Amino acid sequence: MKSIPRPKTPALFQRLQLLLAPLNTLESYAKKYGDIFTMMLSVGEVVIVSSPQALQEILTKDNNEYEAPGSKLLRPMLGEYSILSLEGDRHRRERKLLMPPFHGDRMRNYGELICNITKKAASNLTVSQTFIARKLMQEITMQVILQAVFGLYDSPRLSQIRSMLVDFIELTASPLRASLLFFPWLQKDLGPWSPWGKFQHQQQKLNELLYTEIAIRRSQLDPNRTDILTLMLLARDEEGQGMTDQEIRDELMTLLFGGHETTATALAWAVYWVHKQPEVYQKLMQELATLEADADPMTIFRLPYLTAVCQETLRIYPVAFLTVPRRTKQPVELQGYHLEAGTMIQGSIYLIHQREDLYPEPKKFKPERFLERQFSPYQYLPFGGGSRRCLGMALANFEMRLVLATLLSHFEMELAENQPVKPQRRGVTLGPAGGVKMLMKGERKQVEKKSPSVAVV
Ligand code: HEM
Repeated sequence: MKSIPRPKTPALFQRLQLLLAPLNTLESYAKKYGDIFTMMLSVGEVVIVSSPQALQEILTKDNNEYEAPGSKLLRPMLGEYSILSLEGDRHRRERKLLMPPFHGDRMRNYGELICNITKKAASNLTVSQTFIARKLMQEITMQVILQAVFGLYDSPRLSQIRSMLVDFIELTASPLRASLLFFPWLQKDLGPWSPWGKFQHQQQKLNELLYTEIAIRRSQLDPNRTDILTLMLLARDEEGQGMTDQEIRDELMTLLFGGHETTATALAWAVYWVHKQPEVYQKLMQELATLEADADPMTIFRLPYLTAVCQETLRIYPVAFLTVPRRTKQPVELQGYHLEAGTMIQGSIYLIHQREDLYPEPKKFKPERFLERQFSPYQYLPFGGGSRRCLGMALANFEMRLVLATLLSHFEMELAENQPVKPQRRGVTLGPAGGVKMLMKGERKQVEKKSPSVAVV
């Protein structure tokens, strides 16, 4: 049996490489070692896999030969009761509890809200001024998750939660600051100005607000509501025990964080690519021009070119470039390699999406590839797969298309800078460096009734 290639680069150097230049590092290792190799990461040695066949084997056996242990990386931020930290039966139970508001058929209820939030946020921008696309998108996606999924509407406390959450996330958002998560020995409180001191202080302030929100909702519990916070407050285990405040806080943080950060990044990339390539822009605007002025959100969601643009956005620079770790439960054979029990494995979503055999000219943004052929769930997997497949996949797909269509139909914008925007680590994810600087040119004039919602381009 073959043994898995093991780079000779010193362990600390490998960790720094993946922290500071994740994509170049993965690409250069894959070039040298192929579809399967090991890397030394903060959890120890991890096997990095980038062949669809291997990923299929792992993700379809997620609960048998493989398991999905809780992720340690985000634990300081999200807590030990976050769905991402839980494993085994507790993880399965939690998924079942949280899933309903994220089901595809719930999306219909969120459509109009998403379009209205988008229009309102964009119309607050000043005409002829530059803005950072990622910030606008973050404002939109945060409102969507708070209102649609949590049923939390504007209040002074909510505005505080919003701005504190954004500040808290920024503490680990740059490649250098992300080292706080990747090197646990940096997690030392050396006073209020030290990085970890600041992290803990802000977390405490945010927690106070979240616990207040939980207490208020507990005291006014309405069993007819279907939002996530109500579901968590009503949930009972086999012994009839409800979720503790800490359990609810950790899940609230996880879904608020996971539910807006990733989608905001994906949307900033989408706006970038559409404006970077005039032919993509033209085609998309032509498609949007076929919509009636009062088009139903589901009609927008099903537009083929819009769908392909969003798919290609998540292919070329997937926001999550690695799956969360899996672990072998017993000795297994994977693609001719022997793996001992307890081996950690991560699928490289980025390397799979860059395979020439699947995606010719992989560095080019070409939505047409998604119209010309279909890809299996192991050839295209921006949301991972198996037992930890992204809980928010349906929401993210729906939201991306509606936000992008609404923005382009109602507002005219252009890129404020010509140079290409590069991907850069953002905490555990990947985002556009600088967040994509755009210029707001103004609202589009709407043509009278029954005409397309997009007027003159
Ligand atoms: C474009 C946007 C998004 C992308 C690219 C994305 C990607 C991912 C990926 C790759 C995973 C790990 C899957 C695996 O290892 O197999 C994941 C997990 C997860 N995502 Fe997302 N996500 C997005 C949006 C969202 C949204 C809107 C939510 C909603 C709250 C969300 C909540 C979660 C949760 C809770 C998990 C952990 C699931 C578990 O451990 O069982 N994500 N996501």
